[in-house]
Amino acid sequence: MTIDLAALPHDFLWGTATSAYQIEGAVAEDGRSPSIWDTFSHTPGKIAGNDHGDVACDHYHRWREDIELMRQLGTNAYRLSIAWPRVVPGGDGPVNAKGLAFYDKLVDGLLEAGITPSVTLYHWDLPQALQDRGGWPERATAEHFAVYASAVAERLGDRVGHWATLNEPLCSAWIGHLEGKMAPGLTDLTAAVRASYHLLLAHGLAVQAIRAAAPDAQVGIVNNLSTVHAATDRPEDVAAAMRMDGHTNRWWLDPVHGRGFPADMREVYGVELPEQKGDLETMAAPLDWLGLNYYFPATVADDPAGPAPHARSVRRIGVPRTGMDWEIDASGIEALLLRLTQEYGPRKLYVTENGSAYPDVVRPDGTVDDPERQDYLTKHLAACASAARQGAPLAGYFAWSLLDNFEWAYGYDKRFGLVHVDYRTQVRTIKGTGHHYAEIIRGHRDRAARAA
Ligand code: IFM
Repeated sequence: MTIDLAALPHDFLWGTATSAYQIEGAVAEDGRSPSIWDTFSHTPGKIAGNDHGDVACDHYHRWREDIELMRQLGTNAYRLSIAWPRVVPGGDGPVNAKGLAFYDKLVDGLLEAGITPSVTLYHWDLPQALQDRGGWPERATAEHFAVYASAVAERLGDRVGHWATLNEPLCSAWIGHLEGKMAPGLTDLTAAVRASYHLLLAHGLAVQAIRAAAPDAQVGIVNNLSTVHAATDRPEDVAAAMRMDGHTNRWWLDPVHGRGFPADMREVYGVELPEQKGDLETMAAPLDWLGLNYYFPATVADDPAGPAPHARSVRRIGVPRTGMDWEIDASGIEALLLRLTQEYGPRKLYVTENGSAYPDVVRPDGTVDDPERQDYLTKHLAACASAARQGAPLAGYFAWSLLDNFEWAYGYDKRFGLVHVDYRTQVRTIKGTGHHYAEIIRGHRDRAARAA
């Protein structure tokens, strides 16, 4: 399969992505306080193998080596997240100089290596101190987030031009407060809807805070979206697919684009929104870019007795799947990039995450052969280039992930990295897909150089 590299702009960002809790470790160092993920992962039975992020990839100490790996991959961008509990350990109140200093060094190291940092302010690690005061279902959490955002942007804004407020607020709200499979582990629809509202409010307030501190910042939000298909053409299943689309996609996109919360979903949830005057305008602050995290499509059937949105996933037989048991469908990323372009008119789009997990092993000769991941990457990049060819303003692609890491409730068993991590020794090994990605990047760069 060929990737239409000519469809991608010459200054395309070729990146990898990670998040703080998944890689940093050092959870009790230099003044970091516990986050809801420390609490959740240390609650017996919540995580496969009772794994936790205490050490993870030890990136907090090995970040120089990890930048060197990015250089070897030839990437020119890196998406990282900042740990709120490192920077403002109490959630609100004093800023921890040592916490900020870590990211300061990291950003400088990236820039020295010619790698553009893309900073995400929230990738799920809410300070536990704020959870103890009610967490995202409380409005104050959104306000504290804006103050934290401002502290980070003031410190890094002279060198970081690319900012995301939230990563996948869907997971924080729906999986964390409704399904209970992620921190803080609640199963409460009212709490979930209130959390979703305050997350989007936090996003809007943070956009203002970042712009005030760093007027040239390019600011966006990162959503994990899915294409949604009805399991059959029965009207009940078609309606269920519409609800799942609202739950997964429109609930997160519409408010940010000035359309308010979708009326059909407000009815499905039946929960009063904690709305105050001006909130919807705050949520809809104009953005420079939208981030798409894409992994799999959804096929759903009506499930009237099930939890909101009363649509259950249907397992399609005979389709290829990754080691997460997620269906592989590269046409979904193309469809979503085009849908975002047509329905929401973003200035720029980034694929901020895309990747696959497989049970990789280091062979006796020291290499990691991962042809399935390589195929996944190629097909999804080809689909991205096809969307760009059709007019999607795609400006970059960040492979998930730079490193194997703590895959939340799945622990360390699921390996998404372009680089294998031996968690016993912390030895890193670039996998076959990493080398393949490097070749693609080289191919695009050579083409751009010839055209210049
Ligand atoms: O590991 C996660 C990441 O933290 C958020 N997006 C999906 C990835 C794979 O599950």
